[in-house]
Amino acid sequence: MKPVTVMTIFGTRPEAIKMAPLALELSRRENIRALCCVTAQHREMLDSVLEIFHLKPDYDLNIMEPRQTLSTITSKCLLGMDGVLDEARPDLVLVHGDTSTTFAGALSAFYHQIPVGHVEAGLRTYDKWSPFPEEMNRKMVGAIADLHFCPTVTNRDNLARENITKGVFLTGNTVIDALQTTVKRDYTFQEEVLNRLDYQNRRVILVTCHRRENYGQPMTNIMTALRRIADAFPDTELVYPVHLSPVVQEAAHKYLDGHPRIHLIAPLAVDEMHNLMARCHLVMTDSGGLQEEAPALGKPVLVLRRETERPEAVQAGTVKLAGVEEETIFSLASELLTSESAYAAMAHAVNPYGDGRACRRIADAIEWRFGLRQTPPEEFQG
Ligand code: UD1
Ligand code: UDP
Repeated sequence: MKPVTVMTIFGTRPEAIKMAPLALELSRRENIRALCCVTAQHREMLDSVLEIFHLKPDYDLNIMEPRQTLSTITSKCLLGMDGVLDEARPDLVLVHGDTSTTFAGALSAFYHQIPVGHVEAGLRTYDKWSPFPEEMNRKMVGAIADLHFCPTVTNRDNLARENITKGVFLTGNTVIDALQTTVKRDYTFQEEVLNRLDYQNRRVILVTCHRRENYGQPMTNIMTALRRIADAFPDTELVYPVHLSPVVQEAAHKYLDGHPRIHLIAPLAVDEMHNLMARCHLVMTDSGGLQEEAPALGKPVLVLRRETERPEAVQAGTVKLAGVEEETIFSLASELLTSESAYAAMAHAVNPYGDGRACRRIADAIEWRFGLRQTPPEEFQG
């Protein structure tokens, strides 16, 4: 039987973390010829993930530029993908999530009349401007895609509301597959600051912040609240691996430099990040991925955003929306740092996002769809 050629396309750190285990699963299938194309919308942060997972892309568009705009990312991806898709002619293209690479990858495949599978489909806030531009990216990809791999029932229901019911599979999120390969009990960090921290006697707060809709005043509010938390609680250590975006670098260093217990460090390799998360006390973040990973590790999360497309862990009680106002962020963190019962109520492991078998289900679904397998995959039981 002729193998089916499946091309994964991704470009940023979170897409890479969530697509690498899938690209590897596809390459293990005899019926599938797996190709991988990176746009390199991120460069250093992408390469770090590729290295950890020992993944070597077949195509690299190398598009990143400093302070890139949404238009430059999208247009450079589209132009670059033309040559790649003309040459490789895959039977299916897989894109992930909601970045500009995701949208441009799906659009390009559509222009080349190649079917598209959307991994991490169906997440919605129903607010066009938040997260920006991700909410529209994922809606537009949902309109283009032929196969939709939904992590959760909520995601599948969201698609059904848009009359997308064909080619929909409930798979769990591949990030949990990734997490299961990285977290180790006796892990030693490469980043020396992390080895020196006293995880028994200090409360380590893991912070990340990078979203475009938080640029400006919201980010100022967040940084100010973080400094107040460090000042008010002398037994805390804030660890903040700062995203390489110059906008984020400027805000973080402006407000948080020079504090003895605030550690602004370079972005962490994904295995370092996951193991730090497993040891920390609390997570404060505007990241999508961290909202999925921390609950699986039993860590409470304060989300530094006004909304979330990931309501499952909020409903399970391990994630709280803290918003982007200094006072609310400070008071919610203070509550968790002073009330043992408030902390205990949030610090229990839940896994609404996956069971570590999402990649297998997605590969099975593709084989089934192309007639290479008799039965569809069993669904993720969230
Ligand atoms: C992008 C995604 C966002 C995702 C985030 C994950 C879009 C529109 N946004 O946002 O959905 O949550 O990635 O981190 O697709 N930079 C480097 N080296 C790197 C990576 C970034 O120097 O390895 C700098 C560059 O100056 C770049 C800037 O960061 O121009 C911003 O990167 P970009 O991909 O445009 O936006 P993100 O905020 O990373
Ligand atoms: N991450 C990482 N190193 C860091 C910060 C984040 O490996 O310094 C990982 C994190 O564990 C998660 C993913 O990157 O898997 C999330 O990426 P990010 O927050 O950049 O994007 P988002 O998920 O918000 O789109």
